[in-house]
Amino acid sequence: MNNRRSFFRKSAAIGFGAFGLNSLYNELHAEGFSEAEKLWNDNSADNEDYWSVIQDAYTASKSDIIILNNGGVSPSPIAVQEALEKYNKAAAQGPSYYMWRIIDKGREPLRQRLAKLAGCDAEEIAINRNATEALNTIIFGLPLEKGDEIIGTIQDYPNMIQAWKQREMRDGLVYKQLSFDFPIENDDQIVKAFADAVTPKTKIIHVTHIINWVGQIMPVKKICDMAHSKGIEVVVDGAHTFGLLDYKIPDLDCDYFGTSLHKFLSAPVGSGMMWIKKEKIEKIWPLLCNSQPKSKDIRKFETLGTRSFCIEQAIGEAINFQEGIGSKRKQERVHYLKKYWAEKALQIPGVKIHTSLKPEYSCAIAGVSIDGMKPEELDSKLMKDYQIHTVGINWGNIHCVRVTPHVFTKISDLDKLVGALEKIAKKA
Ligand SMILES: Cc1ncc(COP(=O)(O)O)c(C=O)c1O
Repeated sequence: MNNRRSFFRKSAAIGFGAFGLNSLYNELHAEGFSEAEKLWNDNSADNEDYWSVIQDAYTASKSDIIILNNGGVSPSPIAVQEALEKYNKAAAQGPSYYMWRIIDKGREPLRQRLAKLAGCDAEEIAINRNATEALNTIIFGLPLEKGDEIIGTIQDYPNMIQAWKQREMRDGLVYKQLSFDFPIENDDQIVKAFADAVTPKTKIIHVTHIINWVGQIMPVKKICDMAHSKGIEVVVDGAHTFGLLDYKIPDLDCDYFGTSLHKFLSAPVGSGMMWIKKEKIEKIWPLLCNSQPKSKDIRKFETLGTRSFCIEQAIGEAINFQEGIGSKRKQERVHYLKKYWAEKALQIPGVKIHTSLKPEYSCAIAGVSIDGMKPEELDSKLMKDYQIHTVGINWGNIHCVRVTPHVFTKISDLDKLVGALEKIAKKA
């Protein structure tokens, strides 16, 4: 074949692979998923024949250790791993051409697909590297003045707490933190706590959609309704919910939203997304420079310097994979997995579960502890003696081991977790 023609064909394949017929999802998983779909006759979250097909799509399901800290960062399915490899190999031939001029052409189609997944306008989506970058951009970009009050909680994520504290130091904002005793199975109690803290100077409420430490789902929509009735805007940290819970961003009725994509969406590590309600984009300052900082164009937040467009483009395969499963089915399965182990663990003398098991108050994450044992001791025993990877949590009033399954988690792995808890509790 004419060299120049083959070169242009290759370039097109590199740039737009994720959403075309030649997507790796189509090559690797589509046929298996549609076969598995035929097994999905009882519409239940415990259809192990169906879920074994999903488990096989992840190398993590065959790992030497049992990975139950997927709230921290999630592994990617094989299609996403291979997409990243493909883009990296292509870029390595000459990043200034292949990455900047070919692969980068995939950004606008990707924005469209992320917007479809999020249920919003593509002009409201900025693609970046993680939830910290997304939410810090919003926190540092909001035009607030000395004396303006912000309400957050002690149970929010440290990177956002520190960002608000930095603004307090630099700009004289007043940052108030509520503290909750989770689990709470009462939305009104949570909304009232925020409402009671509001003063005429309150400008922003910061809410973490799922509290990472212990898995509580916060009543974001109800908090937004209360806040908006008082002229207050709401920033939502959706790091643990995007790609896990079956919702669209506009359902929350918030003003600003940030998430990582390398958690439940299973996109490559170093991928994130920011959403800003269209009419508010203009007033938010970009965190990094832009020639039009007051522009209404969401792309003003994407002047992030040289970074991996390969990671960014591989997000496309993670979206294909997500859509292959479906958000509702995924949420129900992951909740089922959490409930499966946690209900068994609750029967063990000396074991405590720190999270509500009701689907309206939690999904993937549950906290567990054993009487008389520190979280870090339990975490390290699980790893050392049973090769089960979790994470010990000591944050404010929360002391437990956080266990987070994902769609690739096998029931037999959860049985091993329960068996390990039983043995450890007996010796404690
Ligand atoms: C609630 C919450 N927000 C934000 C983040 C930050 O995510 P990233 O490290 O991807 O920026 C995390 C990370 O675990 C989190 O749990």
